[in-house]
Amino acid sequence: MAREPKNFDHLLGGNAKGLSDAQLKAHFTLYQGYVKKLNEIREKLGTADRSAPNYSFNEYSELRRREPVAYNGTVLHEMYFENIGNGSTSPDEHAKKLITASFGSVDAWIADTKAALMSAHGWVLTVFDYEDGKLHNNLVHSEHHAGVFANVHTMIAVDAWEHAYFFDYQTKKADYVANVLSGLNWDVLNKRLAMVGGNKAG
Ligand SMILES: [Fe+2]
Repeated sequence: MAREPKNFDHLLGGNAKGLSDAQLKAHFTLYQGYVKKLNEIREKLGTADRSAPNYSFNEYSELRRREPVAYNGTVLHEMYFENIGNGSTSPDEHAKKLITASFGSVDAWIADTKAALMSAHGWVLTVFDYEDGKLHNNLVHSEHHAGVFANVHTMIAVDAWEHAYFFDYQTKKADYVANVLSGLNWDVLNKRLAMVGGNKAG
């Protein structure tokens, strides 16, 4: 069944800190393109000939190889649009405890996230790692699926591809990063973080 793009119009009108409606609308369009491609790939996979898979080229093989790009392009944008906001919310006690246990302090997490976002174009994902029960920053760059840690649960997604900010900020990426991090929607993030952590990170 085809996936429908989600609507994030609630962010328009100044509800995503530092992002204009024009910037957001262009980004929504790009996100909708990933949903369309994910649907296209999965529809073709439904009937693709599985008799001659090949590393160099084969239709089925290539569809499977590109599926993670469209999947992560879809899901990470949805997580990003869900977790950005206007700065009116703050981390709850569980979120603060888990972030502090993982990075030393909330400020240290912000400092590391800023540094990671400035390190390359791509995504910075704050992920819960089932290996050690702590949060880590995971830099995913060059493609939406390149570099993703295997045994983790994505908690926070921040988009630092140029298309996410260039209309509003041009080369002033650090200003975008500062605004998006101070505007995060902690009502959403607190719920995500409540799913993990337990006593392990305590
Ligand atoms: Fe994006």
